[in-house]
Amino acid sequence: MLAADTQSALLGVYKPAGPSFVAGEGCWLTGDDGRRYLDLTSGIAVNALGYGDPNVAAAIRGALDAGILHTSNLFRTAPAGELAAWLAAHSFADRVFFCNSGAEANEGAIKFARRWAGDRDEIIAFRGGFHGRTMGALALTDRPAYQEPFRPLMPGVHFAEVGDVDGVKALLQTGRVAAVIIEPIQAEGGVRLVAPGFLQALRALCTEHGALLMLDEVQTGLGRTGTLWAHEAAGITPDVMTLAKPLAGGLPMGAVLVTEAVAAALKPGDHGSTFGGGTLVASAALATCRKIGAEPFMAEVRRKSELLADLLGALALRRPGIRQVRGAGLMWGIEMDDAAGIVGRALEAGLLLCTAGPDVVRLLPPLVIGDDELRQGIAILEGAMEC
Ligand SMILES: Cc1ncc(COP(=O)(O)O)c(C=O)c1O
Repeated sequence: MLAADTQSALLGVYKPAGPSFVAGEGCWLTGDDGRRYLDLTSGIAVNALGYGDPNVAAAIRGALDAGILHTSNLFRTAPAGELAAWLAAHSFADRVFFCNSGAEANEGAIKFARRWAGDRDEIIAFRGGFHGRTMGALALTDRPAYQEPFRPLMPGVHFAEVGDVDGVKALLQTGRVAAVIIEPIQAEGGVRLVAPGFLQALRALCTEHGALLMLDEVQTGLGRTGTLWAHEAAGITPDVMTLAKPLAGGLPMGAVLVTEAVAAALKPGDHGSTFGGGTLVASAALATCRKIGAEPFMAEVRRKSELLADLLGALALRRPGIRQVRGAGLMWGIEMDDAAGIVGRALEAGLLLCTAGPDVVRLLPPLVIGDDELRQGIAILEGAMEC
């Protein structure tokens, strides 16, 4: 059967491009066309350690050898507990809930906020934000095209403008708001950085008005922006943080990290997820977190982020069609016309990129990418630009 034929039974909610990928190593994928492709998408910010990371592979093998892939949360297993302890030790959080995706993590965050807040049942989200496709997360996501077909959505959501402190304040003053949710960098919304001062203002307002500050670090978390958590750059801590994409080294896993005050509002039976924190994914996640969380690794990410910023800055000077380059760490957006056309031509030239909206080319290289691979990627990208 040809690769194209094997796809015909898949539900048509995606439009996959290029060959079928059959193997991966480091930052490279091999297609069934026999070509090698340099991957600057990391499976949309998932494969932070690239393909075939030895530590993740060993952790997965260890879980396989132990013979338990899953027990359910009716019983205890060591990896989930160790992973929760690692996350708590390396963040603001006291307690962690595990699930299977970013959207599911945000669903959990919504429910935890509602439980914590009692009668207050409204949530403030932001224009340009993206939090997932499930019904609660979709209600917090500012994408009319994604929302319209599925109305009615979860009620009680207000959208504020990023930067509009007074608007957020007015909503909080109603006394009906349980939580404010924001991405420290709006990723799907075009790699739009949220000013540290605005995050600080949200922190202060939430504290003043007794609402939870919930940070969606599903895409920014775990080293992507040059610090373990993107919010570190603003010098604040949230009450709730959601994680997913890179957490388990390519296996599906999400997490909701909360303070003890939030945790105290939850009791057995309030929430759950059959697969959450299973031994296989938790083992892979522990290996991933330990590797990314090591300071020399993060220092390397920061060094490479400076190189990438320089390369993109120079590219912008050479290419007048580029309106702006923006980003942090190894998450960058290039704003220009025909983003999808550039991504398509780059694919033909052996480079995987993705978009973030119609006019932003997004770069999310594996955090382990080498300097020469970054230079090579930018050279291919430039070749794919027509202006
Ligand atoms: C910030 C953010 N939150 C939530 C999600 C949803 O994650 P998932 O696709 O794992 O449900 C995404 C996915 O792109 C995201 O970028």
